[in-house]
Amino acid sequence: DWTPDQFVQSTVDDLKSQLGNDKVILGLSGGVDSSVAAMLIHQAIGPNLHCIFVDNGLLRKDEFESVLDSYMHMGLNVKGVDAKQRFYDALAGLSDPEAKRKAIGKTFIDVFDAEAHGIENAKWLAQGTIYPDVIESVSVNGPSVTIKSHHNVGGLPDYMKLKVVEPLKTLFKDEVRLVGKTLHIDENILNRHPFPGPGLAIRILGDITPDKVAILQEVDHVFISNLKKSGLYNEVWQAGAMLLPVQSVGVMGDERTYERVVALRAVTSVDGMTADWAHLPYDFLADVSNEIINKVKGVNRVVYDISSKPPATIEWE
Ligand code: XMP
Repeated sequence: DWTPDQFVQSTVDDLKSQLGNDKVILGLSGGVDSSVAAMLIHQAIGPNLHCIFVDNGLLRKDEFESVLDSYMHMGLNVKGVDAKQRFYDALAGLSDPEAKRKAIGKTFIDVFDAEAHGIENAKWLAQGTIYPDVIESVSVNGPSVTIKSHHNVGGLPDYMKLKVVEPLKTLFKDEVRLVGKTLHIDENILNRHPFPGPGLAIRILGDITPDKVAILQEVDHVFISNLKKSGLYNEVWQAGAMLLPVQSVGVMGDERTYERVVALRAVTSVDGMTADWAHLPYDFLADVSNEIINKVKGVNRVVYDISSKPPATIEWE
């Protein structure tokens, strides 16, 4: 029978003999999969694993700094790369969701490749691919292929002549979490909701500006920290906020305001393929809405998404 301890032991042994004294490069995302893959390989080869964590300017509020800190505490050999401006430049003026995804994917590859070239004689590229990723990327009718271009699977550009190592390729998400627990990875990372590679760029409908990112980060932060405070965070599969390309009328004192609308989305799911909107308590939603409108300048209306998947997707883009 499968146990996480035994998986760690046999995988670390296999990685040791497979990788020997070779150098390995791995891109960390802050998510469970890449973090667990990194720790497994770290156990096998230590500092020969070179991790790169890119700040694309599209992460949650303060996430880059706090996750980088956790990685350092875990003993990983990790380099944080501030590439915010490059991503904003690449996104400037783009509104189409697929165009945004492509621009982000290309920029990531450029940034990552430049960093990888700085690691001399690297032989391997490690990826946190898990079993459902493998299935989704080959299925003809899979939503990620026909509807969205997920670029994080098999995303090895030709000019990076590296062999690929994917230690989690046979695991499901819950198994990855169990393995992560065995490896003593921070609870904060292990229980983290899934977060899309293109980040907040696909939660800002329309074009991306640093100002819009900053507004959405604040809104998202209020929502997520209240979910955690209320013990609801682990009850939902994923949660976040969408910044809509719509303004609506409001009142403030005697003044009429004309400001942004945000939509909150929280879903329950087992694998993200189907999902139900989370039936969060009305009192909770009321508190979150009030806090967002009071604290976040430029937002005067909050709505809650009550659509299930299918037909609605989890993300709005
Ligand atoms: P949808 O919106 O298709 O999302 O119901 C299903 C899951 O996939 C995530 N998602 C993405 N992840 N790149 C990613 O790495 C993407 O372009 C992307 N689009 C959606 C989404 O957050 C959800 O977990």
